[in-house]
Amino acid sequence: MGGSIIKRDEDDIRYLNDIRTLLMRLKGDLTFIIVTGGGRTARDYIHLGRDLGADETTLDSMGIAATRLNSWLIISLLGEGCYPAPFHSIEEALNGAAGFRFVVGGGTHPGHTTDAVSAMIAERWKADLFINLTAVNGAYTSDPNVDENAKKIDEMSSSGLISLVSSTEKKAGSHSVMDPTAAEVIHRARIRTAILDGRDLGSLADCIEERPFDGTRILPE
Ligand code: UTP
Repeated sequence: MGGSIIKRDEDDIRYLNDIRTLLMRLKGDLTFIIVTGGGRTARDYIHLGRDLGADETTLDSMGIAATRLNSWLIISLLGEGCYPAPFHSIEEALNGAAGFRFVVGGGTHPGHTTDAVSAMIAERWKADLFINLTAVNGAYTSDPNVDENAKKIDEMSSSGLISLVSSTEKKAGSHSVMDPTAAEVIHRARIRTAILDGRDLGSLADCIEERPFDGTRILPE
């Protein structure tokens, strides 16, 4: 869950309540490991820290702290069926998922984003599906917020995804539809992946329940 969809300062309470309703109505045999991004809070701290001269690893640590703040929001939302604190490692997430229906956490180590954490968890957990909930309704040929000729991609191969995100800068707070490390993990581990607008809960339900959905499907190859 991208941080920018959890806390957008626009209908946040309604959105969070709606996502709880959706998760609670889904079949009880599904287990979710939810990885929260840091959104604007992460970026604000990273920019301020960079202006103060902090090194990139320190800035990453600020970003990780912001991702965990958002984890606490989702943990509060999910209540009893949820592991009671944000996981701090991939192993803790997997252990939590053995006993709880929901496990929530954010970043783990400096040097990547929560997309990479999610992909590595999906690899180790042999997850059925990795869903990347972001602020746009899928991957585009270029950034649709900047380029009016950007075209939505409904389906692409995992190597196509690697090429699409290969030019992403390796810096704290840098942003693309998928972190390049995550794209590499998706490719090598052949993880079924979907990218969709996290605020579109109809599409999210369609995706989880295996119906056609508005978003991008990444096909393992
Ligand atoms: P995010 O995962 O939130 O970045 O991590 P994002 O994907 O760009 O943002 P949203 O939430 O989808 O809008 C924020 C920052 O925290 C650090 C990185 O600097 C990253 O850019 N971070 C995060 C790490 O260093 N390690 C992690 O495991 C996670």
